[in-house]
Amino acid sequence: MRISSDDGEAVSPLAQSKPAGIAGYGEDAEMLARQYEGVPFDVVHHAVLRWLPVVSSTVIDIGAGTGRDAAALAARGYRVVAVEPTAELREIGQRLHSDANIEWLDDALPDLSRVRGTFDLILLSAVWMHLDASERAAGMARISRLLASETQVIMSLRHGPVPPGRRMFAVSAAETVALAGQWGLRAVHCDETTDLQGRAGVRWSTLVLHREAGAQTGAAL
Ligand SMILES: C[S@@+](CC[C@H](N)C(=O)[O-])C[C@H]1O[C@@H](n2cnc3c(N)ncnc32)[C@H](O)[C@@H]1O
Repeated sequence: MRISSDDGEAVSPLAQSKPAGIAGYGEDAEMLARQYEGVPFDVVHHAVLRWLPVVSSTVIDIGAGTGRDAAALAARGYRVVAVEPTAELREIGQRLHSDANIEWLDDALPDLSRVRGTFDLILLSAVWMHLDASERAAGMARISRLLASETQVIMSLRHGPVPPGRRMFAVSAAETVALAGQWGLRAVHCDETTDLQGRAGVRWSTLVLHREAGAQTGAAL
């Protein structure tokens, strides 16, 4: 398995522009860092821990925030790339988890133009609903190309009221499963839970999307 990243290749000006989905994150970064880091990885993702790959696998955490999950995964023995487009969150994460073996990248869905290689696990924790429909279609195609031969995507989707200043869309688990299916990914876990922080009206869907070795991967499925 190979991971490499920003290797000096030219990145187009378009790819460098900031994604609309990060609206509101930079301004609130310090407060959000306390919130994100206040609940451990094992608690946030308890329902899907059994889907983690074998130790020493390669993992990419896309929209990694302050790196809570990336650091926990690195501590479990994975090789971890953390992609985070909000500079303020990324810088806090690099500071808080400076001793964790994480490769941080300033990059964003749907293009992920600086990411190289393939991964045994792709984590998208509370990120996917920041993408509009065309970004989700392009993003799923890009994710599909980042997957190693037998592999999974773990994804959580936030539902309910949109916090002021943020850009979020109503994205259901069902439509996400259907989109993933176009790329040979099959849902092996899907649940819906209330919010761990107790925010009124907020619910979460958690999905594990699995692709078996040899599965067809084209959108023409
Ligand atoms: C609710 S936070 C989740 C952070 C972290 N994954 C967690 O679970 O604590 C959403 C994150 O998605 C990032 N984000 C927004 N739009 C994105 C995009 N187009 N590509 C990658 N990340 C994005 C934000 O910068 C933010 O860090």
